[in-house]
Amino acid sequence: MIFPADLIKALRQAQRATALTGAGVSQESGLRTFRDAQDGLWAQYRPEDLATPQAFQRNPKMVWDWYAWRREKVSQAKPNPAHYALVELAKQIPNFTLITQNVDGLHQAAGSPLVIELHGNIHRVRCSVCGLIHSRWDQGGDAVPRCKVCNGLLRPDVVWFGENLPQAELEAAFEAARTCELFFSIGTSGVVQPAASLAYLAQQQGARIVEINAEPTPLTSFADFALQGKAGQILPALVKATFFHESST
Ligand code: OAD
Repeated sequence: MIFPADLIKALRQAQRATALTGAGVSQESGLRTFRDAQDGLWAQYRPEDLATPQAFQRNPKMVWDWYAWRREKVSQAKPNPAHYALVELAKQIPNFTLITQNVDGLHQAAGSPLVIELHGNIHRVRCSVCGLIHSRWDQGGDAVPRCKVCNGLLRPDVVWFGENLPQAELEAAFEAARTCELFFSIGTSGVVQPAASLAYLAQQQGARIVEINAEPTPLTSFADFALQGKAGQILPALVKATFFHESST
């Protein structure tokens, strides 16, 4: 794989870089992206119709079961070469911030030291009434589990459509976008706000944008470097060409 010399140079010189990842980064771990069609049981539903507070109010059991199904798939998944290449980038670049929209925890499983999770984490649940976070819960029978403190229904600790993102994570993500020299947008369709605006903010503040995606997105024409293909192939090759090539200068 041949990369633009300008990109390799910028990456070698970068003191601060930020990466935003989306579902495409976990696709090669066997997890479906959001805007892919779903399988079997859930094929008739769109994620946008299940991942909302209204859906949970209407039918908590259906939403709980959908997340239980996704949690099961995530539990079977392992990090892929894209996740590991991002661990390496954090070692090579003095200030590297990793922001993810994924709730699967695969960046942490690969060994990324600090991950800003903008959309929560599927392995945690929280009480829909008092907000208490639970990392363990009693699934018991068929019903949606309840909070031990206030008896409210438990829900996944993820951000649903129409909900605010966690404030501290959002501020940290904006700060990392504002202050970086290189901004990577990897495996995200770039259509869900506010995450989608991070790349444009970074560019306004002088960063160069590197997009890695299997398909063109709304960001592609704005990117300084648009690398089309699978993140699990492009990212490790880029890391190797930049930091482990004999002619590195
Ligand atoms: P999407 O499903 O919208 O987009 C996945 C992107 O990954 C697409 O642009 C694909 O072209 C690309 N892609 C697929 N396989 C790839 C691969 N192997 N390598 C590189 N790129 C690949 O997922 P997100 O952008 O993450 O939010 O979606 C953003 C948010 O919308 C999600 O976090 C979720 C969803 O609704 C909430 O639940 C709040």
